[in-house]
Amino acid sequence: MSIIGAYLAVTYGSAQASDADVQAASNPSAGQPSATPVAKVDVMALLQSNSCLSCHAIDHKVVGPAYHDVATRYANDPQAQAKVTASIQHGGTGKWGDIPMPPFAQLNPDDLHTLTTFILDQ
Ligand code: HEC
Repeated sequence: MSIIGAYLAVTYGSAQASDADVQAASNPSAGQPSATPVAKVDVMALLQSNSCLSCHAIDHKVVGPAYHDVATRYANDPQAQAKVTASIQHGGTGKWGDIPMPPFAQLNPDDLHTLTTFILDQ
């Protein structure tokens, strides 16, 4: 079924929006590997909605350290995941300078894991 066909079928009544054909037609990339991995999109949304990016950038220092520098510092640390997760959750000061990192106690474990994994990958 073509996209137009699916649209007409839904608009004029014969098909339900839940029909597999309709969903496939209105989402042409379904089933194909997408160019942007989903996790990356989620992480950017998390970074933005928690204002991480007002103090951090990937590749240069802002108020806090560049995520690339964080990844470099912890590259050979087997405790990296746990330490960085704790830093995001509880905040801290003195590891990179005198400016404190605010705590993000409201983040759930999944979000913390996604953020930490992403940062340590930079
Ligand atoms: C108000 C500014 C600010 C915001 C907002 C902020 N940070 Fe930070 N962040 C800092 C500062 C300053 C440091 C350095 C703290 C230190 O020297 O110990 C830091 C340090 C870090 C570190 C390194 C921790 C370590 O153990 O070395 C990570 C990772 C990090 N921030 C992630 C995040 C994430 C993720 C968010 C959003 C959920 C966020 N930050 C939001 C200012 C901020």
